[in-house]
Formats: sequence, C-alpha cells, structure tokens
Amino acid sequence: MQVIITANASAAAAHAADIVERTLAELEAPVFGLATGSTPVALYQALIERHRHQGLSFARLTTFNLDEYVGLPPGHPQSYRHFMQRELFDHVDIDPANTFLPDGTGDPLEAGSAYEALIEDHGGIDLQVLGIGRNGHIGFNEPTSSLGSRTRVKTLTRDTLKANARFFAPDEFQPSLALTMGIATILEARSILLIATGEAKAEAVARCVEGPLSALVPASALQLHPKVTVIVDPAAAERLELRDYYEFAAAHQRQLHRATPGETP
Ligand code: F6R
Repeated sequence: MQVIITANASAAAAHAADIVERTLAELEAPVFGLATGSTPVALYQALIERHRHQGLSFARLTTFNLDEYVGLPPGHPQSYRHFMQRELFDHVDIDPANTFLPDGTGDPLEAGSAYEALIEDHGGIDLQVLGIGRNGHIGFNEPTSSLGSRTRVKTLTRDTLKANARFFAPDEFQPSLALTMGIATILEARSILLIATGEAKAEAVARCVEGPLSALVPASALQLHPKVTVIVDPAAAERLELRDYYEFAAAHQRQLHRATPGETP
C-alpha cells in the first residue's frame, strides 16, 4: 500500500483528483468504481471544478457505485443514485447511461449477480474509489463480511446506521439493508484509492493499513491488493505506527517524479 499523508482534507481531495484525472487520461474507456458518503464529496467537487475550468471530460467514463440502499427507488432523496446525481453526475459531461448502481428496488438476490455480470461485461473496474467506515467497513461490507464476498445484501450494523442517521430526517425511514459490492469484487479492481479524513477514522485507517488481516476489519483485506493508494489527512493518520516511514517514502517518490507535470504535492 502507498500511504500519502496530505497537509489537510482539501489537499487529500486534490491529490485524489490528480489520480482520477491521470487515470482518465491514460485509458480509452475507463471504468471507475465510486463511493458515496461525506468523504468523497470534496473529491467530486474538485473534479467538477476541473471539468468547468480546465476542460476535464468524463465523456468516456463508465462508473459503478459500491452500494445502494435496499428499498429506495433511484428518485428517493436518500438513495445513493440521487446522491451521485447531486454530487457529481449532474455537473459533468458523463453519459447518464454509463453510470450504474446496484438496483435496490427489484429482487435483491438477483440484483447482486446482475451487478457482478454488468461489471464483468464492461471489462472490470480500473480504479475503485473507497471511503472507510469507523468500524473498518468498505462499501457496506460490515465487520465479519466474507473476504470472498461478491455483490449481495448486507444488514448494516447499529454503528453504521447511527453514523449515517445524519443524512435522514428524524422521522424519516432509514433502511437497514443495503446492496453492496463484495470484498472480492472490490479486490478485483485494477487499482484502488482509499480516502480517509478526520480523527474519527484514525483507528480504522491504522487497522486497515497496519493491523492483522481480519474479517473484523474488512478494509484490512486491501493488504492483499497490489495497487492501493491510501490518502489521509493528518487527523486520520494519527494512529499510524509507521507514519514517519510513509512520509519519508512519499518524499522520496516526489523526488523521483519531480519532473512529472500537473502533480499536486
Ligand atoms: C458509501 C460507502 C461507505 C462509506 C463509509 C464512510 O458508498 O461505501 O463505505 O465510504 O461509510 O462514509 P463517510 O465518508 O460518510 O464517513
């Protein structure tokens, strides 16, 4: 894993946007996996800015989101489809027909395998963007999810429901089931970019990067993947034991790539 500790949360978003932009430029028909939640919003804003002011185009991009609530139709204001439209898709030149989320409205058992087949039909995911839950979940793969899991329905933990209650009005229905890509699905992406900001994520980040590989911390499965970049702000990096080493290695890499144009340090 490459761990990058940026000066603050907005530098983390800018660095992530650099990686997204570079991957978009490199590939003819890029396929990205995307996340919802608070963390990637700053990345999406950076991408929208680059689209508006620097001509960054999403016209060749296909996207697959990690997850969707079971029972919420795409038009529902709390659905992840709605979130993606509001936070990214409505503001860039992506073809809406090339944006996919698991279907939370049909038969949830069929929806999982249909989603897997769709990802495969598109040649797999080139770059998977991830956030991380305070309990170490990725997507909605809650602790003790099988490391071999594929897209399926998961019951959310009380901790996750509590963390996400902020998006729902007090009297609003909050689903406790979600369709999520599995851990094995995520690990098949050709590269992975995990972003974490804020002290509430510090423990999860440390266990993901440095802890033992364990179903109790689903994000620790990323240790098995050969191409993972973890971008954290100083608060989220707080509990990393080898923090000095990551900073030393990143400085060394910057030296090597000093000539690369368009990089955000
Ligand atoms: C959402 C998702 C989740 C979030 C995680 C962190 O699509 O996959 O794993 O990334 O719950 O959420 P935030 O960023 O809101 O702290």
